[in-house]
Amino acid sequence: MSTRLAVLISGNGSNLQAIIDAIRQRILAAEIVVVVSNRKEAYGLQRAAKAGIPTLYHPLQPFRAAGKERADYDAALADHLAPYKPDWVVLAGWMHILSDAFLQRFPYRVINLHPALPGQFPGTQAIERAFEAFQAGAIKKTGVMVHLVPDEGVDSGPILATRDVLIYRTDALETLEKRVHQTEHQVLIEALLRVIEGDEG
Ligand code: GRF
Repeated sequence: MSTRLAVLISGNGSNLQAIIDAIRQRILAAEIVVVVSNRKEAYGLQRAAKAGIPTLYHPLQPFRAAGKERADYDAALADHLAPYKPDWVVLAGWMHILSDAFLQRFPYRVINLHPALPGQFPGTQAIERAFEAFQAGAIKKTGVMVHLVPDEGVDSGPILATRDVLIYRTDALETLEKRVHQTEHQVLIEALLRVIEGDEG
């Protein structure tokens, strides 16, 4: 029995691609049962379609236009996922903070990827902020982390995997971004291996 993954994205989908490739190479004994995006133009949706994976588009705007709460959007998202019976929900560049209306439907079954070390630079533009802190002499390295999402905390929760990414004087933001994303692809697969083996344990 392979582990069922639902992957939530908002953009390019290079981390989704890393999961697709790891499954294809039989590194991960898993199946991506659905890919959801809150943005129609997310390139990750094309990556999923190319891999023959069902996709869903779940925009926030219609909920806002109807005067509905964030919790309504999140509860509807959970309703969309339920028929796919995911064992794990993987936030791979999903740019919305999920509320308990979603998290309580998948307790301790939601995993998030963040391009910074635990406790450092929570929220958006974490790589840019790390680069600025390096230029200000405040830090020498940054990193990436994969963690469980038990509650509404931002980029916080029990750590599944983490790795340092050194920053060099010769770095431009683009070279650092490239190195951080390459590291993310590896650490995400490492973390998924851990939870899948844990499930099988
Ligand atoms: C990743 O850096 C992830 O950590 C962050 O958004 C980015 C998504 O990249 N939350 P991609 O869409 O997987 O290429």
